[in-house]
Amino acid sequence: MTPTSLGVAVIGAGMAGKAHAAGYRSASAVFGDTLPPIRLVSIADAYEPLATDVARRFGYDRYDTSWQAIAAADDIDVVSVVVANALHREIVEALLAAGKHVLCEKPLAGTIQDARAMVDAAASSEALGRIGLTYLRSPGIAFLGDLVRSGRLGKLINFDGAYWADYASDPNGPISWRFTGAPGTGALADVGSHLSYIAELFGGPIASVRGGTLHTAFTTRPKPLGRVIGHEHGAVSDERAAVENDDVAGFFAEFAGGGTGSLQVSRVAAGHANTLKFEVFCERGSASFDFRNPGQVQVSLLDHDRTGGEHDIAGTRTVTLGPAHPYWSGGLAMDAPGVGIGQNEGFVFQARAFLEEVAGVPESLSLPRNADFAEGLHNMLLLDAAAQSAAAGGSRITLPAAAPVPA
Ligand SMILES: NC(=O)c1ccc[n+]([C@@H]2O[C@H](COP(=O)([O-])OP(=O)(O)OC[C@H]3O[C@@H](n4cnc5c(N)ncnc54)[C@H](O)[C@@H]3O)[C@@H](O)[C@H]2O)c1
Repeated sequence: MTPTSLGVAVIGAGMAGKAHAAGYRSASAVFGDTLPPIRLVSIADAYEPLATDVARRFGYDRYDTSWQAIAAADDIDVVSVVVANALHREIVEALLAAGKHVLCEKPLAGTIQDARAMVDAAASSEALGRIGLTYLRSPGIAFLGDLVRSGRLGKLINFDGAYWADYASDPNGPISWRFTGAPGTGALADVGSHLSYIAELFGGPIASVRGGTLHTAFTTRPKPLGRVIGHEHGAVSDERAAVENDDVAGFFAEFAGGGTGSLQVSRVAAGHANTLKFEVFCERGSASFDFRNPGQVQVSLLDHDRTGGEHDIAGTRTVTLGPAHPYWSGGLAMDAPGVGIGQNEGFVFQARAFLEEVAGVPESLSLPRNADFAEGLHNMLLLDAAAQSAAAGGSRITLPAAAPVPA
């Protein structure tokens, strides 16, 4: 039965929390009117000034300072959990137990053990547990994924991808939750989570990894004097704390269906604020994408038998994205070709897909569903295998057979 309305809350009003808050705000304005009325109810953050500010600016009815208040609220149906990874489990379990539908940020949890518990919690709840793999909603990435899946590019031979960020390239930037945890919970979990599920969009599930490397470039960082939100640099103290996890990471992937991949990530890549880029080499051609220019993709189709008639001008072509491509038509306030698109739209699309699923809009009329927690666990098992490979000097590590794989 379609609910008469859906009440929404976001827990965590930091860097990504604001993107969720804005995503829900825009979600019912795009792709037609199949959703019931969406009530923007509350923004919860342990830091009250931030909760107040974000609730007011993004048009939510109230703010809260604890996630428990959200779990207990009768007027909230749908909740995004957008706090430090190690906090996901406790909050998500309580929300599911209270019957709230949960959209959790990546990576699913701080540890594999917590991720497994969250899969179990979702399985025994009537409410939905979903993970927002935001970049799969980027029109260029979705379009190239379609080109491979439909056979137009053919089967993947090799994925070559990198996610370079520089948010930690200043050794005097403050320590935060991102720098604590076991090896592999640093750049590998933070940005490697994104790159690895994108690799699997093209090559299917990864069966084993090898050549794992983890490197910590800056082993201590100053303690902050105030709150650290996202990648902001505030005032810091003279005292320093140990960085526990990786600044740079990489591994080679072997896909279950054949094909190989190279994935490299960094949070200390000077000059690259947020560069997610990859090239896919397939049996019928190749394609590339660079998030610094998300409105275009490059595609090169082979013409082995020279029957295409234009082999003399064959080569890589730049495709400017527009209404012919995923998410564009109906998904943007102005959905004309080449109007520009970026990371923030991905949060709108994933919020829309989540609300549609909760509201019972049939899949045929909806955006592709968000991934379930089993896929979030799979992604963590994959990254854990890369960390194990690094600990074993680069040895091949096969993912556990029980690792659920993306559909
Ligand atoms: N999909 C993406 O592109 C993307 C981008 C950035 C971050 N993320 C993910 O989002 C999550 C949050 O990252 P971030 O960069 O926004 O973090 P952040 O540090 O900027 O914000 C986290 C917020 O949580 C609040 N908080 C801490 N404990 C809390 C509690 N008990 N109850 C309520 N609020 C609490 C903090 O005050 C802070 O404002 C992480 O899982 C991260 O991996 C995803």
